[in-house]
Amino acid sequence: MSGRHAATTAPRNLVTRRTRHLQGTSRLVAWCLPRDSAVHRARTLLRNELALAPLRISGDLVAEAELVVDELASNAVRHAQGPYELRILYEHGVPVQAEVADAGTGAALVDQLLDRPLIIPDNIEDLELGGRGLPMVAALTGGICGARNVLLCGTGRAGTGVWFRLPT
Ligand SMILES: Nc1ncnc2c1ncn2[C@@H]1O[C@H](COP(=O)(O)OP(=O)(O)O)[C@@H](O)[C@H]1O
Ligand SMILES: [Mg+2]
Repeated sequence: MSGRHAATTAPRNLVTRRTRHLQGTSRLVAWCLPRDSAVHRARTLLRNELALAPLRISGDLVAEAELVVDELASNAVRHAQGPYELRILYEHGVPVQAEVADAGTGAALVDQLLDRPLIIPDNIEDLELGGRGLPMVAALTGGICGARNVLLCGTGRAGTGVWFRLPT
């Protein structure tokens, strides 16, 4: 284990499972997110990992990435069954992509919804309360996001991963 990743090892109560898949210069790190604290833990883990990135990422961009992962973790626990995972892909040691995975089957639907623009009506009272999370994700990530079928790192079973490009 490198020094950098030794430093990222979180306290036991924060990370319940972490799995590594080594593929040349790419590395996928996954943390299991408990249902009752998935959003908070996903935000904290992502913030901590971005703070350790080789090049400093501005506070505003970190805040945006946290907002995105907050929405994806909220959606996972609200719309899909667990287990849930936060997964971060590293290229040459740089965190480049984050993904929230669940054990559900919503990948095709979510991928389609991520393509829908956020429409602000002329009259703000006509703004629908639901269904704004994924358009917000698409807007905050400049559209560099998507959903796909994945295998969960913790169980090896099929699920849905909703990913987005991280600021570098
Ligand atoms: N992880 C997921 N698994 C299955 N369906 C999802 C998932 N995330 C989002 N969805 C579907 O996409 C819809 C739109 O999501 P979103 O824009 O965040 O709005 P909201 O969460 O308010 O319903 C959800 O209502 C749900 O049907
Ligand atoms: Mg939502």
